[in-house]
Amino acid sequence: MQKILVTGAAGFIGFHLSQSLLERGNCLIGLDNLNDYYDVSLKKARLAQLEGKSGFSFHKLDLANRQAITQLFKEEQFDVVVNLAAQAGVRYSLQNPHAYVDSNLVGFVNILEGCRHSQVKHLVFASSSSVYGKNTKIPFSVDDNVDHPISLYAASKKANELMAHTYSHLYGLPTTGLRFFTVYGIWGRPDMAYFKFTKAILAGEPIDVFNYGKMRRDFTYVDDVVEGIVRVIDKIPQPNTDMSTAPYKIYNIGNNQPVELIDLIQVVEDCLGIKAEKNLLPMQPGDVPMTYADVDDLVNDVGFRPSTSIDVGIQKFINWYTSYYQVFAA
Ligand SMILES: NC(=O)c1ccc[n+]([C@@H]2O[C@H](COP(=O)([O-])OP(=O)(O)OC[C@H]3O[C@@H](n4cnc5c(N)ncnc54)[C@H](O)[C@@H]3O)[C@@H](O)[C@H]2O)c1
Repeated sequence: MQKILVTGAAGFIGFHLSQSLLERGNCLIGLDNLNDYYDVSLKKARLAQLEGKSGFSFHKLDLANRQAITQLFKEEQFDVVVNLAAQAGVRYSLQNPHAYVDSNLVGFVNILEGCRHSQVKHLVFASSSSVYGKNTKIPFSVDDNVDHPISLYAASKKANELMAHTYSHLYGLPTTGLRFFTVYGIWGRPDMAYFKFTKAILAGEPIDVFNYGKMRRDFTYVDDVVEGIVRVIDKIPQPNTDMSTAPYKIYNIGNNQPVELIDLIQVVEDCLGIKAEKNLLPMQPGDVPMTYADVDDLVNDVGFRPSTSIDVGIQKFINWYTSYYQVFAA
């Protein structure tokens, strides 16, 4: 039985992944610092769903705490590490850059060092579609140039990819980076647009619609992302290109079907049966006009293509939201 460390286990994707791995019968150690970037009670509620399940244990730890992370890797012999803990959010990286350095850079080195010294068999880590910056070639391919990030968040994720490649090369540590594309779903993140829209519309408040609703996002349902991660865990990368002999691989995990923000809002309105009052606003600094994942490598290597439509995914989210927060849609 594989022993897996999932960092960010009280977070949105980490929680769903943890549930899925526990169902598979894995021995799972969850780690999270339960920080207050968004509602801590939601993180605790997710954790409460995991606690008590057979095979699960939890450490409240900060990735940036070098001693504590070193100790954890010494005590437990992990077969696989899935690093999802990070300071997420593009816009917040303009307000609080240090949070990104602490969690995404310092924290990530601590994970790499832990993996290296305890001979972890595979490190899978979260990257992001934001590394593509304002790439105009669509769909975004893992072979495209990603040297022009436009937020510190994106730069920190690109840095993770470079750092992981280095450890794969120097120490033979197999690493796989996953560029997630706008993940949404039940138990989701309150800082994300679909969540904020739902909350505001139900409260009868106006919603802020940036870039006048014209940006396009490859909205990807969380169950598809989890399916992708679970399959990738078992796909240990091999040295495979002339440029690099490192056991290192990058995949996009996206729906391969971008949707305009205004169309997403329409689906939320339809599911709630309420029309939104919209504040149409210009683009925000750090934001990109479009994301669109090329998932050919994922399909070829692990035989999986995300495919949940926003009609299905948003309806699931609204059902969860109204029941969790005890509010009632029309
Ligand atoms: N949700 C998306 O659309 C999306 C898109 C691209 C990439 N990602 C990446 O996927 C990963 C998971 O994202 P998510 O949406 O679940 O975000 P999330 O914020 O819900 O989850 C991250 C979790 O990590 C924890 N954490 C943060 N810093 C930590 C630290 N220093 N030490 C320990 N725990 C820490 C947080 O408390 C949180 O529970 C992140 O790396 C994120 O950057 C997410």
